[in-house]
Amino acid sequence: MTGRLPDPGFWRGRRVLLTGHTGFKGSWLTTWLQQLDAEVMGVSLPALPTEPSLWAQLDLAGVHDVRADVATDSWTAEARGFSPEVVLHLAAQPIVSVGHAEPARTFETNVQGTVRVMELLADLDDLMATLVVTTDKVYDPDQSAPHTEDHHVGGVDPYSASKAAAELVVRSWPRTTAPRATARAGNVIGGGDWADRRLLPDLVRAWGDGEQVLLRCPQGVRPWQHVLEPLRGYLLYAEALAAGRDVPPALNFGPADGQSVAVAEVVQYAAVQWRHLGGTVPGSGWVAAPHPAFDETPELTLDSRLAADRLGWSGAMHWQDAVTLTLEWYRGVGSGAAAADMVRGQLASYTAGILEAPS
Ligand SMILES: NC(=O)c1ccc[n+]([C@@H]2O[C@H](COP(=O)([O-])OP(=O)(O)OC[C@H]3O[C@@H](n4cnc5c(N)ncnc54)[C@H](O)[C@@H]3O)[C@@H](O)[C@H]2O)c1
Repeated sequence: MTGRLPDPGFWRGRRVLLTGHTGFKGSWLTTWLQQLDAEVMGVSLPALPTEPSLWAQLDLAGVHDVRADVATDSWTAEARGFSPEVVLHLAAQPIVSVGHAEPARTFETNVQGTVRVMELLADLDDLMATLVVTTDKVYDPDQSAPHTEDHHVGGVDPYSASKAAAELVVRSWPRTTAPRATARAGNVIGGGDWADRRLLPDLVRAWGDGEQVLLRCPQGVRPWQHVLEPLRGYLLYAEALAAGRDVPPALNFGPADGQSVAVAEVVQYAAVQWRHLGGTVPGSGWVAAPHPAFDETPELTLDSRLAADRLGWSGAMHWQDAVTLTLEWYRGVGSGAAAADMVRGQLASYTAGILEAPS
C-alpha cells in the first residue's frame, strides 16, 4: 500500500483534545494517538454509544477521560486547563436514522456542539490546529457525484443538514484562532463498530443469529473504506494545519477510484470471507427490505484528489481488504482474542504495510 503516515515527531508529547473519544472512530484514534505518544484528553457522553462498546473493550489507560455533553459548557473549563495544542472534534450524533427519530437532539449535538468547540478555541493559548470531522453527506445531493470540496453543502435529512450546518459554523466563526478545517469522509468500516444500522455490524449480528441481513438500500453505492484510512488523513491534515501550511479549509477523504460499490456487492463478498473465516452464512446472507424505512441518498462518492495533491493522502486500502480486515476483527474477538490486541495488531500491520511501500 502506498501513502503517507503521520509524523511521530509531531505527535510525541502533543496535547490533543479529542471529542467523541469513546466512539468507534474515537476509540481507534485514541489508540493511534497513544501509539504516537500524544497526550489525549477525551470528551464524550457519560453513556457509551453502544453495548458492547469498543471503548470499554479496549480499556485504555492514561487518557484524560471527561464525560459531558459537548453542546453544554460543563467541560470547557477542564479543556482550558488541559490547554490542547490540537483539537479534533468528532463527537456527534452520527446515525442517519436516529436523526429522523430525534432531529432536535441531532441538531443540538452536531451544531451546538460545534459552536461550543469554536467558542473554546479563542481561550486556548497553545492551540496550533483544529479539525472538525463531518461527513460525505454534507454535500447537497442535487449536485452530481463525485463531490469535490467546492460543491455546495446541503442536506435532506437532519443528520446531513446538521453536519452541513456544522461546516458553516466552522467556516463562518468570526474570532481568529489557529488554523481550522473540516474533514469529510464516507461510511467507514472496521472492527469494533457495534452500532445499529451499520452494514458490517448488522450482518455480523444477523449471521451470528443464523439470520439473513435486511438491506434497506442494496443497490445504493457507497464509498467504503477502513476506519484507519480517514483517521490517517485527519492526522496528516492536523499536522499540515499546525505547521501553517497552505491547505484548503475542507478536504474529502474518500476511497480511491473504484472503491465505491453497491451495498449488495459488499455483502456478497463479506459472505464469502465470513465462510473462509469459519463462520456460517444463511442462504445468500441478505434480503432486501420491502420498503425502505426512509429515503437515503442513492449514490455518494467523494473526489479526494485535493487531499492527495495537498497532503499526499490517498486511500491505500482496497475495499475488499477493508472488509476482510473488519471481518477478521469480529471473528478474532468472537473467538476470544482481546479487542485491544486486535486493534493494535491491525494498526501495526496497516502502518507497516504503508511504510514498506516504495515512496
Ligand atoms: N462511522 C462512520 O461511518 C462515519 C462516516 C462519516 C462521518 N462520521 C463522523 O465521524 C464522527 C465519529 O463517528 P463514529 O462512527 O465514531 O460515532 P460513534 O457513535 O461511534 O461515536 C460518537 C461519539 O460522540 C460522542 N457524543 C455523541 N453525542 C455527544 C454529546 N452530545 N456530547 C459529547 N459527546 C457526544 C459519543 O459519546 C461517542 O464518543 C462523527 O462526527 C460522525 O458524524 C462517521
